[in-house]
Amino acid sequence: MSTLFTPVEIGPLTLPNRLVVAPMAQYSADEGAHGPWHRAHLGMLANSGAGLVMIEMTSPSYAGRCTHGDCSLHDDRTEAALAETVALMRAVGGAKVGIQIGHGGRKASTHPSWKGFAPLAPGEGAYETIAPSPLPFGAAPAPREMTPADIRALIDDHAAAAARAVRAGVDLIEIHGAHGYLLHQFHSPVTNRRGDAYGGTAENRMRLLLEVFDATRAAAPGIAVGMRITASDWIEGGLTPDDAVALAKALAARGCDYVDVTSGGIDPAQKITVGPMYQVDFAAAVKAATGMPVRAVGLIATPEQAEGIVAGGKADMVALARAFLASPRWGWWAAYRLGATPMVPLQAQRAAHPAWAGWGMMDPALSA
Ligand SMILES: Cc1cc2nc3c(=O)[nH]c(=O)nc-3n(C[C@H](O)[C@H](O)[C@H](O)COP(=O)(O)O)c2cc1C
Repeated sequence: MSTLFTPVEIGPLTLPNRLVVAPMAQYSADEGAHGPWHRAHLGMLANSGAGLVMIEMTSPSYAGRCTHGDCSLHDDRTEAALAETVALMRAVGGAKVGIQIGHGGRKASTHPSWKGFAPLAPGEGAYETIAPSPLPFGAAPAPREMTPADIRALIDDHAAAAARAVRAGVDLIEIHGAHGYLLHQFHSPVTNRRGDAYGGTAENRMRLLLEVFDATRAAAPGIAVGMRITASDWIEGGLTPDDAVALAKALAARGCDYVDVTSGGIDPAQKITVGPMYQVDFAAAVKAATGMPVRAVGLIATPEQAEGIVAGGKADMVALARAFLASPRWGWWAAYRLGATPMVPLQAQRAAHPAWAGWGMMDPALSA
């Protein structure tokens, strides 16, 4: 019996299984709004076999987008576009729908991944970036240090975006507190040199993340709310698994429904060791210390790896990103290999296993 393909409760939400499509920025939005690419990409992933599909990092303000192709959720137009995507996903597939909300901070104003995230030049539509402290990310221009008014506006923007996401019909909201973006920049001593109540001690550096959580929680009653958090900056003097545990405990005490435990991205100086399932022990440490629902992520590629993580009690959910980009029906294959029955729409059932002998030809483990 597979554990991966059993339901799991995330606060008020029951997911049909523990497999999650991780949030993946597509750099293909039209002035912040979803367009044809998002509809095709996310509509397809609604039938990936995963119980939850996360919609990519979406900025709570227009200026917080990392690239000109990033999504935002700051006005009626972007809200209507999101609502259209969510409705499409529900019409065609069985996955629950989550959205990740996050501001780029000092990592904003760049080109997309296929141009190496290079900082935008003034002639390329560069825009002002903000951060806890005026420290540049690599060769990017220095960000402006956020004032108390900027901090207030950020919290309010998160609340407004959460309310828009609820109206657009999502099942779950995730706050992006990781990967070197704005909230992580507040959390990490590498990027936060503030002398006010938002800098200095670990408690002060967590403050904004908790205030954004509270504002989001209040704006999304009845909806699952979680956070993606950092377990290592991979830099001497940076965040460690103990910081992730402390943040997760504080979030759990405030009604956070889950955390996704990830790492890296705060500064080009990081010395990161990447290998199969390299972040799973971080998730296990947070789960053991808090008892809250935890999602593991990071270079998980086979059904057996995903199954082992949840069956072994290291995490409650497993998120995969690149495996689903490479193979959007990855969840069907995983279910077949683990002896479970995936959610296959009627239109595709002639290609289900074992009705279609082709599965056994593609993967000898599935031959009759
Ligand atoms: C194309 C792409 C876009 C991504 N965009 C996001 C994002 O919007 N938000 C986020 O938290 N992580 C993002 N990530 C990171 C993934 O969610 C995931 O944590 C990472 O890729 C490791 O998982 P994997 O080894 O299964 O790909 C992105 C990854 C990829 C490959």
